[in-house]
Amino acid sequence: MDDKKVPDRDTKPVAPLGTQADLVLPLKESTYNGVLLKGRYLIEGELGRGGIGVVYLARDTQLLKRRVVIKVLLQGEEGSVHTEWFKKKFDQEIEALVRLDHPSIVGVLDAGDMPDGKPFFVMQYVEGATLRSLMTGEPIDFPRVASLVRQIGGALSAAHDKGIIHRDLKPENIMVQTMRDGEEIIKLIDFGIATVKDSQYATETAMNC
Ligand SMILES: Nc1ncnc2c1ncn2[C@@H]1O[C@H](COP(=O)(O)OP(=O)(O)OP(=O)(O)O)[C@@H](O)[C@H]1O
Ligand SMILES: [Mg+2]
Repeated sequence: MDDKKVPDRDTKPVAPLGTQADLVLPLKESTYNGVLLKGRYLIEGELGRGGIGVVYLARDTQLLKRRVVIKVLLQGEEGSVHTEWFKKKFDQEIEALVRLDHPSIVGVLDAGDMPDGKPFFVMQYVEGATLRSLMTGEPIDFPRVASLVRQIGGALSAAHDKGIIHRDLKPENIMVQTMRDGEEIIKLIDFGIATVKDSQYATETAMNC
């Protein structure tokens, strides 16, 4: 990751809010810890890292310090065809989430640029675990599986109706939130390689996928 910090009008480092009593997430330190984005999103640590993006936990300081998640595009060499493709897919991930408004799909809240110029977007924090982490090897009873599969199917179907194909459906990209009454709610995340029909960001290149 590029550690360079270029000051940005909207972004300035501030002291972290400090450890929250309820924060039990395995957060990693990052060079962005304590950075305030757009005057409101305060980065607390790294949640995960994939091929083209890094995901951070943050607090929305203008909305009762509620948790949000920030996904930042890792940028490659300027001008390289791969870098352009990553940028296009990142823009399309935002476009897909804006187009989709469904209870089983994570909601997008905002977007902007990091102090060093990398693009980011802000999404709802899903208080839960990935489906992968719930797959312990023990059998899962049928009603529970049926409920999870029905919700996943509903989310995919809603996406397909709007011309969006996720293309990266796997347990790591399905968050499961347990409600007070024990009901499990899923939220589909990571539309990082989704295809978006009639996208604003479509290009004429051979990598138009
Ligand atoms: N909205 C969210 N709420 C809570 N945790 C999240 C959220 N989004 C992502 N995460 C956590 O961060 C991990 C990585 O997120 P995501 O799958 O979007 O990125 P990625 O796989 O690193 O990206 P890419 O494959 O596009 O490079 C998830 O598996 C999940 O643990
Ligand atoms: Mg993922």
